[in-house]
Amino acid sequence: MTAVVAIYSPERGVGRTTLAINLAWCAAQAGHRTLLWDLDPNGGATRLLSRHSGGAPVPPAPFPTQTDGLDLLAAPAEGWHLQLLSTSYERIVLDCAPELDASITRLFRSAAAILVPMNVSADAQALLDDVVGRLDAAKARKAPLLPVFTKADRRRASHREAIASLTEWPMIPYAGAVGATSGTGAALGKIAPRSPAARAFASLWSGVDRRLERRP
Ligand SMILES: Nc1ncnc2c1ncn2[C@@H]1O[C@H](COP(=O)(O)OP(=O)(O)OP(=O)(O)O)[C@@H](O)[C@H]1O
Ligand SMILES: [Mg+2]
Repeated sequence: MTAVVAIYSPERGVGRTTLAINLAWCAAQAGHRTLLWDLDPNGGATRLLSRHSGGAPVPPAPFPTQTDGLDLLAAPAEGWHLQLLSTSYERIVLDCAPELDASITRLFRSAAAILVPMNVSADAQALLDDVVGRLDAAKARKAPLLPVFTKADRRRASHREAIASLTEWPMIPYAGAVGATSGTGAALGKIAPRSPAARAFASLWSGVDRRLERRP
């Protein structure tokens, strides 16, 4: 059965696209036919993953990436029906824009999980509560909402404190190599598989995927 995993945050620059690319890569590595759907008009995932760079137009349909089993779709939510995509893919990872509109909330209602990447800060719980409120107001929260700390840097006292107060939140460590993957489109698991961040993506994905397998 196809499982849709949405990556959503109302804030820009929190690491949505990085999370989406790396989790989709983990899903494909685990042998699932996977689609990464770039729903953000800023085209972050498309820019990073696409072989159709250099100004060539991106096709309006799913196309293969350099990773076996991982396709990319760059199209707005209203452009494609999940039912159709579900015939070809076992895992669909959504890289969402911060704005919620009717077609995105419809997709959220079909999601098995909504991951919310968050900056590490003392306000993290309050910001998550705000996200919950927005999704509830849009009647978009049928799936469990899973916060994820991104770019966590234990050298910073403020980060150590925030992490210590929310120990159950998964955490992706800050990794210089994430920046280095920009432009190559490679997931961290490919270029630095033993790095703490690559391991964190892998363990986050296996936790999420276990939940997906347990769905009724
Ligand atoms: N774990 C990490 N370690 C280091 N840098 C990271 C990490 N995750 C993300 N970044 C960097 O943070 C910046 C923002 O990340 P990303 O593009 O994934 O966020 P986004 O939420 O998709 O942003 P946008 O709102 O522009 O779409 C990028 O420069 C990215 O390389
Ligand atoms: Mg992005």
